[in-house]
Amino acid sequence: MEIDIMPREQLGICAEGNLHSIYLMYNAEDNVEAQLRPCLASVAQYLYELTDQYADSAFNGFLAIGANYWDTLYPDERPALLRPFPAVQHHDLYAPAIEFDLFFHIRCDRYDVLHLVANEINQMLEGLVELVDEERGFRYMDSRDLTGFVDGTENPKGRQRQKVALVDEKEPLFQSGSYVHVQKYAHKLKTWHGLAQKEQEDIIGRTKQDDVEYAAHEKLPSSHIKRVNLKDEHGNSKEILRQSMPYGSLRQQGLMFISVCKTPTHFEAMLHSMVKGDEHGQSDRLMQFTQALTGSSFFAPSLDFLLGAAG
Ligand code: HEM
Repeated sequence: MEIDIMPREQLGICAEGNLHSIYLMYNAEDNVEAQLRPCLASVAQYLYELTDQYADSAFNGFLAIGANYWDTLYPDERPALLRPFPAVQHHDLYAPAIEFDLFFHIRCDRYDVLHLVANEINQMLEGLVELVDEERGFRYMDSRDLTGFVDGTENPKGRQRQKVALVDEKEPLFQSGSYVHVQKYAHKLKTWHGLAQKEQEDIIGRTKQDDVEYAAHEKLPSSHIKRVNLKDEHGNSKEILRQSMPYGSLRQQGLMFISVCKTPTHFEAMLHSMVKGDEHGQSDRLMQFTQALTGSSFFAPSLDFLLGAAG
């Protein structure tokens, strides 16, 4: 298959933040690939069109295919760096891998629209897949994580979002696609709220109320900011675009952490730095106050790839 013009990205990948989100994780039934390929193309096209229809409430969405399922669904071609989630453990810190075949990420400023679209997707996939997990996210206060800290401040802005998140022309078939990592974190909020505010700020590396970054000499090696602010061998920042949102209920709540990036290596390096730490064994203290319950690796191809591969 050849694509001459720049393929269209799925619009949810780089979208700006919303008030609400729904995350659907599915596993596919056996031997349904021939039906599933056109079905996924229809869902992706449907989400693309809804972005115009519900522009007033900033609807957006994307779908992604699991690293372990890709070859079953599209046996002829595979994104060069697509690989399973990099599970990691160090003493009592661990980030497990729990993979899913398909991930749907839909967001909107109207909850009713989202609910309707989630039902529609589910119906379009009927008989081909099994819904394994579903979460609903929400904007908390002024875009804060449930720890009370603003989340997303240092995310790439404007057109830089596309530059960071989308595969470029060097991999033509997968251009405008994105490597996606998802981790559902359950926060230990009682313990977290037991800390003094200054201690919480030291753990993040920013002030809580005003969201001001600590000066370089004030940042502890174990602070979250220090552990994830990484550079490559040329001194360039390893960037990811985070699309995370708080989720949950009184029984379990935390962060749906979502990274989209033109390469999986940036996320992998950050997670390693948080859990395993640096050469002095400095891991991320934030990880003591939250637990990753899942860890999944996907690729979200361009809309044109999905339409072209529909068969
Ligand atoms: C920054 C929270 C997990 C990567 C931040 C900030 C907060 C935060 C409050 C500072 C504000 C901002 O720039 O957005 C959390 C929480 C997490 C979590 C509560 C888990 C429960 C992760 C993971 C990664 C990550 C798993 C990557 C593997 C980053 C990056 C930044 C950041 C790259 C920006 C750093 C900078 O350039 O200053 N996070 N985070 N975070 N986080 Fe996380």
